[in-house]
Amino acid sequence: MIEEFLDKIICGDALEVLKKIPDNSIDMGVTSPPYNKRENKKGWLVDKVVYKGATDNMPEERYQSIQIEVLNELYRIIKPGGSFFYNHKIRWERGIMLHPMDWLRKTKWVIRQEIIWDRMIAANIRGWRFWQVEERIYWLYKPKSENLIGEELKSKHALLTSIWRFPPENNNPHPAPFPIELPVRAIYSIMDDRKGGVVIDPYCGSGTTLVAAKILGHHYVGIDISKDYVEYSINRLKNYKKEIPRVENELSKHVVRKTFKERKERGEFVGRYRKTNTKNAIPTLFEYMDGEKKE
Ligand SMILES: C[S@@+](CC[C@H](N)C(=O)[O-])C[C@H]1O[C@@H](n2cnc3c(N)ncnc32)[C@H](O)[C@@H]1O
Repeated sequence: MIEEFLDKIICGDALEVLKKIPDNSIDMGVTSPPYNKRENKKGWLVDKVVYKGATDNMPEERYQSIQIEVLNELYRIIKPGGSFFYNHKIRWERGIMLHPMDWLRKTKWVIRQEIIWDRMIAANIRGWRFWQVEERIYWLYKPKSENLIGEELKSKHALLTSIWRFPPENNNPHPAPFPIELPVRAIYSIMDDRKGGVVIDPYCGSGTTLVAAKILGHHYVGIDISKDYVEYSINRLKNYKKEIPRVENELSKHVVRKTFKERKERGEFVGRYRKTNTKNAIPTLFEYMDGEKKE
């Protein structure tokens, strides 16, 4: 019965706990798993990201096979038509690129979209590549019957584009939290005006997804292997009201000022080229960008 998991944070291994959750019982999820960053590895600059109660250093092949198992368990427990947002990043191991797609394509999920999370960070250090400021968020979809495409996203969410710009969280003692805006955007875009759904985060850390779900009027299920982070999340959830202004600020971005039809009727910018007075004139790049700014 799903009721026994609702609004709970379970301290344990994600895979083991997920196996106990009934089939087709969860609406959606958001997570950022441990990245297998190989603690203390030269060049990764991640020495501060060390979890309490879990190592983040396993042979990459084993790491990927566990991620596939976890993702397939999530697929089993999420309802047909449901979504899962999986935050990860591109890594390199002795010069070889390790891309999340390497294992995502081996899961049962339909990969609905790859979203770039622009973390808006600046760096002034040396490196072997252009400084990596982005992470990825995979929108994974569990089809309903034969339909692999799913329902249309409302314009007010779709207009937020496939590049999400949020700075990393800096007001949280957890070593690798994501900002609350990230799960809020995912949950609100999928569940929109619906309330009372069930949102899971199998690596919930400081509970960011759970607070987002609660403020948006949903139930949550959280899992984390660290007792300390579970305790922290429980406390954070008790004080969830403090985080409402940030959630509201994110929701205020989900607005369509003019519909496509209205813009077309007024002869305004509706696509690639702006209508100009000159017959058949193609705008210069600057005119085009200027037109976009005014939209
Ligand atoms: C990237 S952090 C998640 C942070 C979270 N999104 C937040 O905003 O606080 C990954 C979390 O996975 C947890 N973890 C590591 N191995 C785990 C496992 N096998 N099962 C469950 N949780 C695990 C760590 O304790 C850590 O809190």
